[in-house]
Amino acid sequence: MTIPSVKLNNGLQMPQIGLGTASLDDDAVAPVIVSAIEAGYRHIDTAFRYGNQRGVGKGVRDSGIAREQLFVTTKLDGEFQGQNRAIVGLDECLQQLQMDYVDLLLIHWPLPQRNEYVSTWKTFETLVASGKVRSIGVSNFTPAHLEMLHAQTTIRPTTNQIQLSPRITRPDQVAYGHAHNIVTVSWSPLGQGGDLLSDPTLKAIAHAHGRSIAQIVLRWNIELGLVPIPRSANPVRLAQNLEIFDFALTPAQIAAITALDTGAEKRVDSDVQGH
Ligand SMILES: NC(=O)c1ccc[n+]([C@@H]2O[C@H](COP(=O)([O-])OP(=O)(O)OC[C@H]3O[C@@H](n4cnc5c(N)ncnc54)[C@H](OP(=O)(O)O)[C@@H]3O)[C@@H](O)[C@H]2O)c1
Repeated sequence: MTIPSVKLNNGLQMPQIGLGTASLDDDAVAPVIVSAIEAGYRHIDTAFRYGNQRGVGKGVRDSGIAREQLFVTTKLDGEFQGQNRAIVGLDECLQQLQMDYVDLLLIHWPLPQRNEYVSTWKTFETLVASGKVRSIGVSNFTPAHLEMLHAQTTIRPTTNQIQLSPRITRPDQVAYGHAHNIVTVSWSPLGQGGDLLSDPTLKAIAHAHGRSIAQIVLRWNIELGLVPIPRSANPVRLAQNLEIFDFALTPAQIAAITALDTGAEKRVDSDVQGH
């Protein structure tokens, strides 16, 4: 399975689908990482907040893959916001992962009420020169937050990781990303495995292609130039979720899927607890 890459605005290549790891603890995540790498995943998404970086690092080592063949993302949450705090945060992540660098470091949430995301980003900019991060980006930022960064800092984020699925399509954020060369990464692309995966419109399109609904949703992401990071702890579904590069949706199918947007912009509370 050859996975295409997208080119980030600093020239780095990012595989266009990644493995999500939220809610998998150290013990659970390590064998999932091994299965995922075996299945062909080369892009892994973790976060300090997930408390599973030790397990992610163990899974990578157990898999035997060379580090440079992987694209590893991690995120720093509230406790590392503010001037210079990200320096310690990144070192802590690298120590847990037992890695020398990450490919992408994200500000996990803007937390605008704290008003520290600009100073945090300025610290992120200094980390690029350290060699410990190959690229920097943000998560859960709106265009207004991105404009604020643009006005006060030098480096454009390479990516903005946001909750995005056929029910939550966030057209403004996606358009902003396209216009400013910021790749949009979709978190909870499968709606966390909920009733999205039994939607009748998706079911009909899946039937027409002889694919699963999850594959249709992930393919829709690819057609829109997005980078989905689905999570699965099941080796069969892990492999199935990668088999999306040998078929295409029609423009009418893409439009029908996009029209499933409910207009509700939800977010996963478990991902913000403790901030
Ligand atoms: N930046 C942020 O603030 C943020 C917030 C939330 C999440 N994230 C990231 O985004 C990743 C993905 O989001 P998520 O974990 O919330 O949810 P998700 O990927 O949308 O859904 C995961 C669920 O879908 C099921 N599933 C996976 N493949 C399937 C398939 N082919 N058929 C049927 N069910 C399938 C999984 O069950 P099985 O395991 O049983 O297959 C699991 O229960 C996270 O893991 C995390 O890395 C980031």
